[in-house]
Amino acid sequence: MDSTTTPSSSLLIFLVILAVVSGEARDPFACDPKDGANAGFPFCRKSMGIGERVKDLIGRLTLEEKVRLLVNNAAGVPRLGIKGYEWWSEALHGVSNVGPGTKFSGDFPGATSFPQVITTAASFNSSLWEAIGQVVSDEARAMYNGGAAGLTFWSPNVNIFRDPRWGRGQETPGEDPVLAGKYAARYVRGLQGNAGDRLKVAACCKHFTAYDLDNWNGVDRFHFNAQVSKQEMKDTFDVPFKSCVVEGKVASVMCSYNQVNGVPTCADPNLLRNTLRKQWHLNGYVVSDCDSVGVFYDNQHYTNTPEEAAADAIKAGLDLDCGPFLAIHTQDAIKKGLVSEADVDGSLVNTVTVQMRLGMFDGEPSAQPFGDLGPKDVCSPAHQELAFEAARQGIVLLKNHGPSLPLSTRRHRSIAVIGPNSDANVTMIGNYAGIPCGYTTPLQGIGTYSRTIHQKGCADVACSEDQLFAGAIDAASQADATVLVMGLDQSIEAEAKDRTDLLLPGRQQELVSKVAMASRGPTVLVLMSGGPVDVSFAENDQRIAAIVWAGYPGQAGGAAIADILFGVANPGGKLPMTWYPQEYLSKVPMTTMAMRSIPSKAYPGRTYRFYKGPVVYQFGHGLSYTNFVHTIAQAPTAVAIPLHGHHNTTVSGKAIRVTHAKCNRLSMGLHLDVKNLGNKDGSHTLLVFSKPPAGHWAPHKQLVAFEKVHVAAKTQQRVQINIHVCKYLSVVDRSGIRRIPMGQHSLHIGDTKHLVSLQAAALGVIKS
Ligand SMILES: *[C@@H]1O[C@H](CO)[C@@H](O)[C@H](O)[C@H]1NC(C)=O
Ligand SMILES: *[C@@H]1O[C@H](CO)[C@@H](O)[C@H](O)[C@H]1NC(C)=O
Ligand SMILES: *[C@@H]1O[C@H](CO)[C@@H](O)[C@H](O)[C@H]1NC(C)=O
Repeated sequence: MDSTTTPSSSLLIFLVILAVVSGEARDPFACDPKDGANAGFPFCRKSMGIGERVKDLIGRLTLEEKVRLLVNNAAGVPRLGIKGYEWWSEALHGVSNVGPGTKFSGDFPGATSFPQVITTAASFNSSLWEAIGQVVSDEARAMYNGGAAGLTFWSPNVNIFRDPRWGRGQETPGEDPVLAGKYAARYVRGLQGNAGDRLKVAACCKHFTAYDLDNWNGVDRFHFNAQVSKQEMKDTFDVPFKSCVVEGKVASVMCSYNQVNGVPTCADPNLLRNTLRKQWHLNGYVVSDCDSVGVFYDNQHYTNTPEEAAADAIKAGLDLDCGPFLAIHTQDAIKKGLVSEADVDGSLVNTVTVQMRLGMFDGEPSAQPFGDLGPKDVCSPAHQELAFEAARQGIVLLKNHGPSLPLSTRRHRSIAVIGPNSDANVTMIGNYAGIPCGYTTPLQGIGTYSRTIHQKGCADVACSEDQLFAGAIDAASQADATVLVMGLDQSIEAEAKDRTDLLLPGRQQELVSKVAMASRGPTVLVLMSGGPVDVSFAENDQRIAAIVWAGYPGQAGGAAIADILFGVANPGGKLPMTWYPQEYLSKVPMTTMAMRSIPSKAYPGRTYRFYKGPVVYQFGHGLSYTNFVHTIAQAPTAVAIPLHGHHNTTVSGKAIRVTHAKCNRLSMGLHLDVKNLGNKDGSHTLLVFSKPPAGHWAPHKQLVAFEKVHVAAKTQQRVQINIHVCKYLSVVDRSGIRRIPMGQHSLHIGDTKHLVSLQAAALGVIKS
């Protein structure tokens, strides 16, 4: 450095401290205009194309410098004016400090904490998902500008919630591939902005793929080899990732810890190079889960030497290692001829391109798009209001006998508020959270409507003792109504912790039943949980008037619960996963990936798509305080599928390959009239399921579209739903090929049914 233009080091330290304390703009990551010598490189020129700039930069790096850019805590290259960068930040449902790239302090003591994803998914409102993404990325950019966060966020988690025990099911949008795919695309769009190549922040869909077991019965995610058929890879596990990449245009995908069919996902060129890049055209980087490469070497013994592990990962298409492994072993791998420097360059092209698209080589952050975002934009009233609204939209009314809800401030002047989650705060934000702007607990929320008598009943969710039962029973016997806030928390379901059963933990069930027996007024059971809970006992107990599932409702959860209980908000959430009875578990080892039932082995199958046995509550269940009816106003009864000319000869089968059909804009429009017959405004979710013509490889039904509509009391609305025929009315055959079955498809929307016949167009003869 030139000493005449450099401030003394003590002054520099002072300036840095000043910048951190006052939350002033951070220094540029690279290409600092204040640093004349380093701002003049071609890679700093905004007028040049990103491809050229990336090439210029990589051409200037030594091999030593390159390998230190292959890891999450990428080293700086001071001679080129490039600072170090921590790639790992998280923003699953709000800016989080789980990754080392983000820190709360000073001007940024917290960020808006939205409901956990499973709750937000239950809203079935895709504009809400995008709106949340926009708010989260505003806050993320503000924190980046203030030096408190990175720009690369390893969210969302879009693995299928395959097994109800999964400790991380709470992080996902649920069990349905179409729902998860739609969530992925909209949340990513919200995070990344929708400005072409330019990225607001870079999102990441994880964990690719078939990762949905953490630690069950002696099998953990670091050693698990998921056996997945071609068919189920295509029609279940691929779907949300494909949608994330193709529709959401995500800037990153993370490979997982587990193996799929004997190959660690982070060492599988078929998954990373072929599926992600060649087929789906990922424009972004592939990152490993944290220490995945070390895990497949050390824990899975997949290669004999660490150099082979490093080479396999890079050659498979891994661009960035969360963990130190590639920084340590890549140079030796090149020396041994296992991988080439050109392969490393290929990885760097993918990572550096994303940094360029984020504007990290464009000089002063404050002079760039989003450069004006700062502390005032984090936890703003509007952002906190959206977190509150998201919780109201996601809460699901499971049972309402009588109806006994909503409660009334006139008749229910005192409420006994009972249960280990009755004054929950941290529990409400679930995992992968940050520090919220503040909390409203259920007790505080209910307290804004009525006088409360608070008795926890159990000290914590484990509820191993009954000493506090008497106080709770006494409170219930005095109050005008009783609200029990029960359920789970991260001590029961979490990362690295799958559940062993589906029941309420410890003596919770006993407390609920005893309190219900003693209640003077109606008893309402409110559940906090990510995964489903077998509450058949409460569904069947006449004394339990109502059941509400709040998921993990976020920082404003208690206020939202209270608004639902007192009818200020009308519940419109629907379950994004099946609630199975406890007995189901004995028939499904968590390690069996099969979604389809296997009758010969008494294996019942998984999710509403394939499981037909008894449920506590089905996928899509959710009640309202008003009464909706919908009718089909207009819908085609036949759709012709045009084929590409040269596929004339393939028409004879009963199902046409999707690749042989002219799919562009081939959609069918359903027009529905939704009437709100009741006297409360509310939102109605139309879930359109399709049942393909009989054939053994199809799910027995599949969600193909959903639309949420707000309808004022005593009014009606016309809704149009477009169904992309090739994407949604196709099924996957045993070889993993997507085909459109010809013949009658039956569409179900609640009790309403509609038949549509699909036929190959133009070419006449269809044998069937
Ligand atoms: C959360 O609740 C617990 C138990 O009531 C309390 O000790 C703790 O201070 C609360 N934390 C916050 C951040 O409000
Ligand atoms: C398709 O097949 C029919 C019947 O064999 C034939 O008449 C027609 O010319 C073919 N069309 C194309 C585009 O190959
Ligand atoms: C979906 O969410 C958005 C954002 O909160 C809201 O404005 C809209 O009313 C919601 N849609 C329905 C039908 O409830």
